[in-house]
Amino acid sequence: MNSIYVGQNATNVLFRSLFQRLRLKSFRKVQTRSLFLSELVPSQHKLSFVTRDHEEIYKKSIQEPGKFWGELALSKLQWITPFTKTMDCEMSKGQHKWFMDGVLNVSENCLDRHVQRTPDNIALIWEKDEPGTHETVSYRELLKMTCQLSNTLKNHGIKKGDRVCLYLPNSPLAVVSMLACSRIGAAHSVVFAGFSADALASRIMDAGAETVITADQGLRGGKTINLKQMVDEAVSKCSGVKRVFVMSRTGADVPMGKIDIPLEKAMSEESNECIPEPMNSEDMLFLLYTSGSTGKPKGIQHSQAGYLLYANLTFKHVFGYEPGDIFSCVADIGWITGHSYVVYGPLSNGATSVLFESIPTYPDPGRYWEMVERLKINIFYGAPTAIRLLLKYGNDWVEKYDRSSLKVLGTVGEPINAEAWYWYNDIVGEKRCTVVDTWWQTETGGVFLAPRPGPDNSMPKPEFATRPFFGVEPVLLDSNGKELVGNNVSGNLCIRGSVPGLARTVYGDHQRFLETYYTTFPGYYFTGDGALRDEDGHYRITGRVDDVINISGHRLGTAEIEDALDYHPDVAESAVVGFPHEIKGEGIYAYVTLKEGAVIKLEDLVLQLKNLVKKEIGSFAVPEIIQVASGLPKTRSGKIMRRILRKVAANDFHDLGDVSTLAEPSVVKDIVDEHKKLMHSKS
Ligand code: PRX
Repeated sequence: MNSIYVGQNATNVLFRSLFQRLRLKSFRKVQTRSLFLSELVPSQHKLSFVTRDHEEIYKKSIQEPGKFWGELALSKLQWITPFTKTMDCEMSKGQHKWFMDGVLNVSENCLDRHVQRTPDNIALIWEKDEPGTHETVSYRELLKMTCQLSNTLKNHGIKKGDRVCLYLPNSPLAVVSMLACSRIGAAHSVVFAGFSADALASRIMDAGAETVITADQGLRGGKTINLKQMVDEAVSKCSGVKRVFVMSRTGADVPMGKIDIPLEKAMSEESNECIPEPMNSEDMLFLLYTSGSTGKPKGIQHSQAGYLLYANLTFKHVFGYEPGDIFSCVADIGWITGHSYVVYGPLSNGATSVLFESIPTYPDPGRYWEMVERLKINIFYGAPTAIRLLLKYGNDWVEKYDRSSLKVLGTVGEPINAEAWYWYNDIVGEKRCTVVDTWWQTETGGVFLAPRPGPDNSMPKPEFATRPFFGVEPVLLDSNGKELVGNNVSGNLCIRGSVPGLARTVYGDHQRFLETYYTTFPGYYFTGDGALRDEDGHYRITGRVDDVINISGHRLGTAEIEDALDYHPDVAESAVVGFPHEIKGEGIYAYVTLKEGAVIKLEDLVLQLKNLVKKEIGSFAVPEIIQVASGLPKTRSGKIMRRILRKVAANDFHDLGDVSTLAEPSVVKDIVDEHKKLMHSKS
């Protein structure tokens, strides 16, 4: 069994939670509008689940998952052929099969059915990087563009089952690309446009993508990013790529080679109609690469119907979405949050989704709130790292804009500390909005834990994602796999039973899927996070319990960064850990040891190592601190004791644990001394 530990002291956390609750009682909490839970129940089935009580519905969803999800799938999704078999799931095999013999098309669910009823409703508001500018796209227009691109792809030979790699800025054509793939049955693999050419190349190759869709350039915070140039560099390493479609974002004159096709021109020559490909519920909808504690990033594979249903329902019920609301998730479509809550959740509900291309501080720290005022946003969903950054700039940037349209404020991607939570709640939300701290993962497809806005008993609490969504049964296990029952316990967060939104496999490597998620704690899905359950039965995420770090909400495996550092000819070995960072949540701290005889100036080494990580992964993965160590603390069997390295990186030298089991206990003192010297030189 892997060694699992929970990185927080439960007593501390409980104490803090009590204190926060006392504080909470002091505010006037105006509940948002009632959420009609009975809407969760299709009218023809009302008899079975009709109730407004969250707890009662929750219980039924756990006791009778087949019935619960089956009824919802029939009423919420449009089927070409409805399913007759609801579920066939076996946790020990990592097998999740839902709505098995059903046939549907995801883009039809996101577009055609709304175009039939309300074609002129706005589907997307593209908040462009250029401050104060936005463009709208109606459902009718979005369908037309999607069909044109679907036909373009088909005419270039792309067919059902193919993988298409997207490397694009947040823009309507990026959403159109995702929907066009789903319309013709190809799987998209969106790669965040902050990844380097090398990282892009490895993802293209792993997916076996023959087609890439990119843009001439991207714009972020007024800076141009040469996307096409990155793709050229990546594609030069991938002999399997046959075509690259290039969208015009800035109109820059980029070199076009033999395999490059101007996207808009190709689309303009195609028909506005394209019959959606009938897809089986369990066919692959998309791949999204994510980092784990070992090896290269894995292509998390999501399904058609299960994923869509889960994104659809969580969008509506976690955020309390009501028709007419303007929903703004400021995540990039390159991450799962963008997939589920910029694209599939909102569009399958016929909602208006804001597509944010910029950054929170451009042209100034009022960017989000000026946008909220101008677009009259009702639900805002962002990352704790941005909230922490903005609160440093003071309240004036928020208060100068009218935020009366806001009703729900969401956060995701990393723990939100109490200071940021209160600022979000008190200043941004004027204590009248509901803050929903949503916990989930690339693998879960949609929100698994969150307080739900509405007149039920889940009062949002700072730092708590509170309770499970319908159908999700969290359990806490100790490191021996024993279930921790009752409240006031903390352990490894696992999920019992299947949920339609869960990933189906790792692309091309089901064994890796099994080993990563289903073997540490047999019979459960292991999330890789630790959590605490308080006296109310509410969950607080205490952080990753594996070697994954979360930098500004970007998930990175320490092994990936170590691999990049190890490319340096003078580096013998490296170990990367996270350390507490005021804005980013965690910062990256790298320890490297050098090969014998290595002669290199420290400044040159540090610069070269940073450049290596930038080249191999991307700028966001560059270590903030690099310490050249004389040795690494290892057990006699050679395992690096990261616990010690994490403590030193966090300037916490007390209680470094029993070092006598180390192969060379003296290494610890050296590391501490070197660290202190390094910190001194930086201050
Ligand atoms: O550690 C948890 C953290 O982000 C991880 C998942 O990262 P990713 O797959 O990139 O998806 C991020 C967006 C869904 C989790 O294992 N995480 C996510 N949400 C929260 C969180 N940690 C604490 N609180 C959250 N609300």
